[in-house]
Amino acid sequence: MSILVTGGTGYIGSHTCVELLNAGHEIVILDNLNNSHLEAVRRIERITGKKPVFIQGDIRDTQFIQKVLIDNKSTAVIHFAGLKAVGESCEQPLKYYDYNVNGTLCLLNAMQQAGVKTLVFSSSATVYGDPEKLPIQENSPLKATNPYGRSKLIVEEMLRDLYASDPNWHIAILRYFNPVGAHKSGLIGEDPKGIPNNLMPIVAQVAGGRREKLHIWGNDYPTPDGTGVRDYIHIVDLAIGHLKALEALDSAQCTAFNLGTGQGYSVMEVIHAFEHVSNKKITYEMAPRRSGDIAECYADPHLAKEQLGWEAKHGLREMCEDMWNWQVKNPQGYQ
Ligand code: NAD
Ligand code: UD1
Repeated sequence: MSILVTGGTGYIGSHTCVELLNAGHEIVILDNLNNSHLEAVRRIERITGKKPVFIQGDIRDTQFIQKVLIDNKSTAVIHFAGLKAVGESCEQPLKYYDYNVNGTLCLLNAMQQAGVKTLVFSSSATVYGDPEKLPIQENSPLKATNPYGRSKLIVEEMLRDLYASDPNWHIAILRYFNPVGAHKSGLIGEDPKGIPNNLMPIVAQVAGGRREKLHIWGNDYPTPDGTGVRDYIHIVDLAIGHLKALEALDSAQCTAFNLGTGQGYSVMEVIHAFEHVSNKKITYEMAPRRSGDIAECYADPHLAKEQLGWEAKHGLREMCEDMWNWQVKNPQGYQ
């Protein structure tokens, strides 16, 4: 019996594989290596001492996925595979609907045909759009503002429809806030292909000298220091959230959970924390607001605590320390 982890060589997937193996689960990693490296599989093995099965393949191949599920006697799927760059999704919306919506549809068909009805799905806080109320609760209005966000929202709706039609499904929808940091070993971490867009990888690259400076997208927001506020969550806390969600899926349901800390930090606070742990100066320049950005976003994480027995344990300092450790040990990522 094993758990199929789609996108398991990616950033969140690789950290979750470590936690699954450490907890004694058998896993099969399925990834097309579109945005990740095979080296991640070797690193997972180095950390855990266990060799995961790796299969290179695409979630859009229904028959192939069905065979993988049956051959490996899979009992559940944790579904990370997909595309995640907001800007790219505006330029190539069809590609995003193909990978994220059609890809998930193919996977669900394969699961249904193979009789595997337990799923943990990677959603995002982006489905809340610009929130009306903070902290954000799971029953807040959903309204994505870009093709990436809409692809997540469509899949969420698809999952709710599927469960309504067949209550034998066990589905956890995890809405991540802002995952950052790396495994303590410094062996796995985020290795964005191309130019990263997210704050923390850019800050780490500036500290590491791989990039000259950071542009701060707006210092005129209605926040204490004018810069954007987000709920950063340590990647290992996030990974453990998947384990807890899987363990809690013993009853039929389709439930959405926020995975965040409940604490917001501004861009300036992140910069100061990173300077402190790295002992490096982060050169930055103020720039106009980034289109589509919101002022403030942080979770109400109580539902996950009550129903999954999960809460984030790491603070901003550890997020920066572990991010810096990964950056120093892997200045060029996995290559
Ligand atoms: P990632 O790009 O590091 O990992 C995704 C993995 O999926 C990659 O290894 C990629 O090669 C693989 N993949 C993509 N398309 C595939 C396909 N058609 N078939 C098989 N494999 C495929 O991204 P991540 O940060 O680990 O994100 C994982 C999931 O979490 C994604 O669905 C993403 O949308 C979601 N998410 C991420 C964040 C974040 O900030 N990282 C926030 C919210 C939600
Ligand atoms: C972005 C995505 C969101 C996605 C999330 C996690 C956009 C509009 N939103 O969210 O859909 O779910 O990543 O992958 O892209 N910042 C700078 N300079 C930079 C980069 C970021 O000042 O070079 C600021 C941003 O304005 C924001 C904060 O840092 O205030 C965090 O940005 P980022 O890491 O990109 O995350 P989100 O904007 O929350």
